[in-house]
Amino acid sequence: MSEDSLLVVVLAAGMGTRMKSARPKVMHEIGSKPMLGHVIDLGRSLDAEGCAVVVGPDMAAVASIANAHFEGAQIFEQTERLGTAHAVLAARPSFEGRSGYVFVLYGDTPLLTKAALDGLYQQLKDGADVGVLGFEADDPTGYGRLLLDENGDLAAIREQKDASEAELAVKLCNSGVMGFRAISMTELLLEVGNDNANGEYYLTDVVELARARGLKTVASLCNEADVLGVNDRVQLSEAEAIFQARAREKAQRNGATLIAPETVFFSADTEIDEDVIVEPHVVFGPKVKVGRDVHIKSFCHFEGAELAPGADVGPYARLRPGAKIGEKAKVGNFVEIKNADVQQGAKVNHLTYVGDALIGPSANIGAGTITCNYDGFFKHKTVIGANAFIGSNSSLIAPVTIGEGAFVGSGSVVSENVNADDLVITRAERKVYENWAARFRKSQMRRKAALSGD
Ligand code: UD1
Ligand code: CA
Repeated sequence: MSEDSLLVVVLAAGMGTRMKSARPKVMHEIGSKPMLGHVIDLGRSLDAEGCAVVVGPDMAAVASIANAHFEGAQIFEQTERLGTAHAVLAARPSFEGRSGYVFVLYGDTPLLTKAALDGLYQQLKDGADVGVLGFEADDPTGYGRLLLDENGDLAAIREQKDASEAELAVKLCNSGVMGFRAISMTELLLEVGNDNANGEYYLTDVVELARARGLKTVASLCNEADVLGVNDRVQLSEAEAIFQARAREKAQRNGATLIAPETVFFSADTEIDEDVIVEPHVVFGPKVKVGRDVHIKSFCHFEGAELAPGADVGPYARLRPGAKIGEKAKVGNFVEIKNADVQQGAKVNHLTYVGDALIGPSANIGAGTITCNYDGFFKHKTVIGANAFIGSNSSLIAPVTIGEGAFVGSGSVVSENVNADDLVITRAERKVYENWAARFRKSQMRRKAALSGD
């Protein structure tokens, strides 16, 4: 551990009853990523060496999210909810005897950014012992108020329920984010009592306790949106909206054209390269990578998909996990692709299902082609060679291989391999009955007339 190492302690013990959910609150997602993941990833962006997460009883799923986002995250259980200071003390082994800095973050505050924390971090590095991140609230009701002294240092944090009239008028609020010089943290926390309106151990009390010891206590400011706390599903969607607005701006600043940005939805891990064009109404689910010069037409839905440079997709294309669209390949309307490699220059233009398949370079998949990949028990693979041509409305019953340059006649059901450059047709033989339709029509009309008595 280095001298100025950073530990991030994340409070995530609350069940979040107002979410009305069987899942702990911090597991709910913003941009397809659990809120807790956003907070822990922020710690990583600050090069935190350690991460401690305080969870409630029976929150194994929360612990596993923590570990997925921070290898070796320490999990501590707070069995009784006795207040924020009590919650931080649940993680005492993670910071006791430590040097460097500690940030306490809330697991339900997913929009916090590195930029918002940088100022506070710098003040700690410049000698402050305790600092909080504050913001000017339009409506401060419910928040702890930041009381500054004549030097602009932080004198105290007063909780709403314990505040005087004059203190309630203060608009500078506590976001809940606190930073500590690790060396004084344990002693300060152990001094916190619960003699207040809620009978809780308030983390915020450490400010006055620190000043009584002659330590330096400061406040650093951020925007209210950075520290929006999510308590119910309405706030969850508000946080999602802010996340999406930021993601859209980032994609555009990185060189993607979004024709109607407000209709495009990103995941936290979406990667979009330069000169990509995204038409209106596109959803990027988790794990999507889009290469340069890709054109995404309207009404597409992607997850777990990779699009190589110059690919052209949509409108109305659905790319599911494992879809890889090669350079300059084309995927058209009402096409679903799952776990399949559509290689360079291949075309899958209309009304097709491609699952568990490899489509070789420049192959052409006709309208209505279906890879029949599932037999009700197992999935099987379809391999289509380079330059092969699959006629419209064909069913390819996997496992099956269509050789390079082979032709499949329209409407075929192909259950055995086809060699390179062969033509296969499995249609029934053509039969023609001359003038049959005319005769049929005439006799039916006669019968109908007789029955209705005309
Ligand atoms: C807290 C702050 C308040 C600040 C506000 C910002 C205190 C005393 N007050 O108030 O100054 O303006 O956040 O949103 O800190 N938690 C636990 N265990 C507990 C108690 C809380 O893990 O025993 C967690 C909660 O799950 C939540 C966070 O700590 O993530 C904050 O707790 P909460 O009860 O919401 O604090 P507030 O009253 O909102
Ligand atoms: Ca709260």
